[in-house]
Amino acid sequence: MSRLAMFGGTRTLTAENKEPALIGWPVVTDAERESALRVLDSGQFTSNNTDGEVQLLEREWAEYVGTAHCAAVSNGTAAIELALAAAGIEPGAEVLVPAFTFIASAIGPVQRSLTPVFVDIDPVTFCMDPAAAEAAITPRTRAIVVVHLHGLPADMTAFRALADRYGLLLVEDAAQSHAATYLGARTGSLGDIATFSLNVVKNLPTCGEGGLVTTDSADLHREVELRRQFGERLQGARERDYRSRRVAGNEKLSAVQAAFARAQLTRLDEYHEARTRNVHALLDRLGRLPGVVTPYTPSDRTHAWHILRLRFDPVALGRPEVAPGALRAILHRALRAEGAPVQPYQVVPLPGQPAFRELGHRAEDFPVTCEVIEDSLTLQRWHLNPASGPVLQRIADAFEKVWEHLDVLCTAAAGLDHRPAWQPREKAGV
Ligand SMILES: Cc1ncc(COP(=O)(O)O)c(C=O)c1O
Repeated sequence: MSRLAMFGGTRTLTAENKEPALIGWPVVTDAERESALRVLDSGQFTSNNTDGEVQLLEREWAEYVGTAHCAAVSNGTAAIELALAAAGIEPGAEVLVPAFTFIASAIGPVQRSLTPVFVDIDPVTFCMDPAAAEAAITPRTRAIVVVHLHGLPADMTAFRALADRYGLLLVEDAAQSHAATYLGARTGSLGDIATFSLNVVKNLPTCGEGGLVTTDSADLHREVELRRQFGERLQGARERDYRSRRVAGNEKLSAVQAAFARAQLTRLDEYHEARTRNVHALLDRLGRLPGVVTPYTPSDRTHAWHILRLRFDPVALGRPEVAPGALRAILHRALRAEGAPVQPYQVVPLPGQPAFRELGHRAEDFPVTCEVIEDSLTLQRWHLNPASGPVLQRIADAFEKVWEHLDVLCTAAAGLDHRPAWQPREKAGV
């Protein structure tokens, strides 16, 4: 048995495995370089040009997703805010948001003076639990922000039924799920309106920040367009009339970012297929290790594989005395020492974040979210690169090596004084 790197042994992953050509993201090719130069040479830098890069991206994305409309905006958080604004939901109304997601899913509603009401997740899909969502509906609820977390579509049949039954706006936060499908339809076409992020770490990235809002509703689309640009109606070559029809800010996308995203879009499917192959080859090996729970994809949907979450089960390992959080912490150290880039994603549920705790929310009210955070780690970003297949195999080697030492690691974990990151600290403000 080879010695663990955390105890002075040789690391499994070497510098060679970390070459940008294998794991860098986004992949920048001549197409991206040429697209940026094309914009610089055209002199058309804003989103206000008819048939400019922004309009072309909007048309291409609407066609890809399968919606009638798409509006490009400054980022994915603005996209959520604008989607809610477009529906005219009155300030103070409640919006259901999963307790487990990136903070932006709740900040979009807050920026519209709406109240996020947190909902626990399903332990298998990690997406909002429809039954918990229904239990959270009150007479003040107006919308559901469903997040396709990590790239797996949420149970949209259940959420559509819920939205229809209670007359709620159904918003998809598809920031992590470009190219994923549910019952054959792409995410972004499943709700009343949907939002995407084009942030540089996303599966469809731009060279910085960006967002997209898709919908079949001409009314919602018109409102998003108005509200992303001071409430003004900017109509291509026509002279600007300087009339603000809505009280609204500036949340537009620039032409360089649209052009970069368009170049990426031409390779989205090819990358998605390569990623799916590479990820399956990795998960097949990890799934054979005792106590590792790999992501599950229900047969009615496909996964975008934005983030890979692995849960660790001490009971399945025959070590029920080890706290899941302590096991995860020691595995984290052992795997990182081997060079495997495992990391937590969201160590505190949204309602337990200091900013929301101050408003009276509590992480402990969302036990499934807390459990998942405690017993799991993620792999992010490296696997997005379509050439990462061999590196993912080295990561599987690192897991297998660490698993040979599980007995020692479990004994060490049992002795750890572990405390979940979401438990409030004694000192205020920490
Ligand atoms: C689920 C989710 N929603 C919204 C956002 C916000 O997107 P952006 O960073 O483009 O504002 C992100 C980005 O990380 C996200 O992961």
